[in-house]
Amino acid sequence: MRLASFSLAALAGALVLAPRGGQGTPVPAPHSLVAARVELGRRLFYDADLSANGTMACATCHEQRHAFADGNTTHPGVTDEPGLRNVPGLANVGRFARLTMADPAMTTLERQVETPLFGTHPVEMGMKGRAREFARRLGGQACYKAMFARAFPAQQGRIDTGTLALALAAFERTITATRAPVDQGPLPPAAKAGKALFARHCAACHAGPDFTDFAYHRIDLTPDQAERGLMDATGREADRGALRTPSLRNVALTGPWWHDGSAPSLASAIARHHLDLAPGATAPLIAYLDAMTDPTLMTRADLDMPATACGQPL
Ligand code: HEC
Ligand code: HEC
Repeated sequence: MRLASFSLAALAGALVLAPRGGQGTPVPAPHSLVAARVELGRRLFYDADLSANGTMACATCHEQRHAFADGNTTHPGVTDEPGLRNVPGLANVGRFARLTMADPAMTTLERQVETPLFGTHPVEMGMKGRAREFARRLGGQACYKAMFARAFPAQQGRIDTGTLALALAAFERTITATRAPVDQGPLPPAAKAGKALFARHCAACHAGPDFTDFAYHRIDLTPDQAERGLMDATGREADRGALRTPSLRNVALTGPWWHDGSAPSLASAIARHHLDLAPGATAPLIAYLDAMTDPTLMTRADLDMPATACGQPL
């Protein structure tokens, strides 16, 4: 099996269905299979046919130019029911230990796909009870049929929630951001001062390569009736309002900030932590947050809406 010349992120996507190797190590699927899933997943990510009334794609809320967030406080779903939480960016989600803000059981991208498709709290794409329609809607198109056949030969090209989720997740694993100034320098002078402040005041929670410990913390002390946070999953009053530390990858581009989009600036997001910061600390901290931006995430052509499929313009 050839592994050379293929990105780690995309390979990770292939581990799920692959057979097991001699020492119990998963053997990655062949390059061509992963590539076929990524290509299909990319098309699906931009396809509004995945929503009840054909108006909403994943990319409607997760826009490349906003680092896969959307620039709004919250985003209503297909029924116009208001969104409950701010749309997060998706940089490096392929390596997140826990997904979403308040559900510790949400650990795979494949499972997460079901939330926007079928969720009712809030309704996003509105497909609850209608999963069978995917086969009809997509399977009626020769090009989609061919793409599913290429991506899922072992499943006979089946079109269902399972294959849809595998393809979308394979594409999501290519949404990577690892070339920011914090990764490869040079850091502007203001960001250097910010780095030291960040290590002291922030890195306990915003830890690791994506600046999150994937743990849940209650930060904002003003009582927020609407947001129960981790308590929704655990039922414990002590977990009320606790949220997963957000990744800070490309954070300068994912505003407005905070779980409900209620922080209009990075300065206000920092202030709402109620930390004991020296006057003058905010500016260098923001310079360091700015240095977490990998600009290629917004310009990579392979993450944009595909212009063609099966050799035909879309
Ligand atoms: C109506 C807007 C909307 C649509 C459409 C939407 N999302 Fe999201 N997405 C959100 C919001 C809001 C959250 C945060 C939810 C939470 O944490 O409780 C989120 C969270 C996520 C996360 C978790 C990110 C993290 O930091 O853990 C992933 C992954 C994701 N969405 C992928 C998708 C995919 C794939 C689709 C299409 C199948 C999709 N989304 C469609 C609004 C949307
Ligand atoms: C005790 C853990 C903890 C510490 C320490 C901490 N944070 Fe946070 N941070 C969080 C959590 C949890 C949230 C989510 C809060 C919410 O949305 O209600 C957050 C949110 C943020 C956000 C908003 C992100 C977004 O996408 O909405 C920024 C920016 C941020 N923190 C930066 C910092 C900086 C800079 C510091 C240090 C000065 C810091 N944090 C210290 C846990 C922490």
